[in-house]
Amino acid sequence: MVVWSPFRFNSGQQAANRFAMAPLTDASHQDGTVTEHELEFVRRRAASGFGLTVSSAAYVENDGRSWQGIGAAHQGHLSSLQRLADAMRAAGGLAILQIYDGGRIARPELTGQRLRAPSAVASLRPGASTPRAMTADEIDGLIASFRRAASLARQAGFDGVEIHGANHYAIHQFFSPRANHRDDKWGGTLAKRMNFPLAVAQAVRDALGPKLIAGFRVTPLESEPGGYTLDDAKLLCNELARLNLDYVSVSLDDYRNSRPVGETRVYNGPPEKTYTPPENPVTAFARVIAGRSAVMASGGIKTCKDAEGALEKGADLVAVGRAVVVDPEWLAKVRSRNETSILAGLPKQEAEIAGTLSIPPRMVDYLLSRPGWIPRL
Ligand SMILES: Cc1cc2nc3c(=O)[nH]c(=O)nc-3n(C[C@H](O)[C@H](O)[C@H](O)COP(=O)(O)O)c2cc1C
Repeated sequence: MVVWSPFRFNSGQQAANRFAMAPLTDASHQDGTVTEHELEFVRRRAASGFGLTVSSAAYVENDGRSWQGIGAAHQGHLSSLQRLADAMRAAGGLAILQIYDGGRIARPELTGQRLRAPSAVASLRPGASTPRAMTADEIDGLIASFRRAASLARQAGFDGVEIHGANHYAIHQFFSPRANHRDDKWGGTLAKRMNFPLAVAQAVRDALGPKLIAGFRVTPLESEPGGYTLDDAKLLCNELARLNLDYVSVSLDDYRNSRPVGETRVYNGPPEKTYTPPENPVTAFARVIAGRSAVMASGGIKTCKDAEGALEKGADLVAVGRAVVVDPEWLAKVRSRNETSILAGLPKQEAEIAGTLSIPPRMVDYLLSRPGWIPRL
């Protein structure tokens, strides 16, 4: 079966199979260093044999933190990153560091700074405050911060970096006509709105060199009025492939229904009404990219059949999130065709969750605060 076959990236690195552990944000120490709980969470899950494991998103600048997670912002983060890379690679899979900046959805109570973003336009999230527009120098500085984060990843022993260009964080904001109203080289036309994502991609590739993996996660379209379209994102993917990126990861709630992650996610009610394009984004991107970079699908993969279905839609790789949160041995069970024993939800008893499933206590609180998001037994 193709899902178990190895995959060779443009950089020459090889994943033993097509399964990736999706980036799963967790709570770290206040200074952005990884906790023992987080290392255990990742080590146990990676040990079940993922071809590659993507880390939780690491902030590249203190001012862009959206939660209390890991950092890749300065040399003081290096030993924390080394420990994380070692834990992720314990079972021989490739270790990828995801890096991000929050832009207008950073949290001022964490950063101690006023929000800064492409333009002075507030997010649609309830209670969001209006950011100030970044200066041209600050934008250059942020690109340099992504470059430095990639260089830290290389020094720490990661096999590559995934740029978080999805889910409404800063890179996504630069690409969005809703968030980016600039009239300099960073905004205005579609081509100019692509400049920031592409500059970050180039900077990361430069820092990594040709032999490490450079990936880019993208939200394939915006369902909010005035948002970018799937056709816009296809053009971005084409340019990312021209930069010889190793993969493009398509962020969806479910790879089958094409529903993008909305800016004002509702976790406790019925799913948001979002626009669904006629073409599946995974298939659309695979066509445009045409083998120049790999395509990774994500969203709603719970069985081997789901993963095969994503490959049939044109993906080369699949990323698995919630299924692995709920069952740390998910992949081993899939591989041994023991899917009936897969845990379908978090245990009813809250006290059991952290201990038996190696889920860090603060992550448990986070998951339980969004009851519609993660299934419970
Ligand atoms: C607890 C949790 C944390 C997440 N953190 C991140 C993150 O740091 N970066 C990211 O790109 N996506 C993040 N996601 C989204 C997942 O990577 C994935 O795209 C999403 O959960 C859909 O896939 P699934 O249906 O397999 O869970 C997170 C999801 C969960 C459940």
